Amino acid sequence: MMLRIPGVLTKQQVAQCRQIMDAAEWVDGNATSGYQSALAKNNMQLPEGSPAARQIGEVILDALERSPLFISAALPLKVFPPLFNRYGEGQTFGTHVDNSIRVAAGGDFRIRTDLSCTLFLAEPEEYDGGELIVEDTYGEHSVKLPAGDMVLYPSTSLHRVAPVTRGARVASFFWLQSMVRDDGQRTLLFQLDSSIQQLAAEKSHKDPVVVQLTGIYHNLLRRWADS
Ligand code: NI
Repeated sequence: MMLRIPGVLTKQQVAQCRQIMDAAEWVDGNATSGYQSALAKNNMQLPEGSPAARQIGEVILDALERSPLFISAALPLKVFPPLFNRYGEGQTFGTHVDNSIRVAAGGDFRIRTDLSCTLFLAEPEEYDGGELIVEDTYGEHSVKLPAGDMVLYPSTSLHRVAPVTRGARVASFFWLQSMVRDDGQRTLLFQLDSSIQQLAAEKSHKDPVVVQLTGIYHNLLRRWADS
């Protein structure tokens, strides 16, 4: 399932993050690539684990912890420390699939990548091109969101970043390991939770049907989750 999470960061937080990024030192994006990705990738990144990356990463992780939509959709177990990239004019990232296992700098944190996240930090008007294009069984989906919005998509997807033809595309990208490994099961849980929340808003959290459905949600989660 692919999902937009609007307003993860406020415009004010985006501006603060951009200020930190503008003052930071950038390196060739291939610092984090696997062998195959390195052939397709042409962009710049903040060095992994650098003070700027850590500082902005904390802001993003704090915001995500407070997002019920993110928690419900991702059911996160472990979230990789956010990374940051910048695509200037002519820069692009060709079709690839993200590495299945990611080890953070220092080597003491390792996750299986179930979901890939892109948090846009530049407004769509600031650049031309630079769409994130994700392929699934329904075809190709082109994503270009307002600054502060994030997209979640299964890490199993082939995807690319279209060449930037004007301005610069700045974003945070990272991965997470979900408590529920299977995308189909995770999607069903998200749909069930969304339906329960809607029903509870219309009736009451104490409504017997809402209580029963909430029980079913947790019993399915118990059956499918690793913790
Ligand atoms: Ni990727």
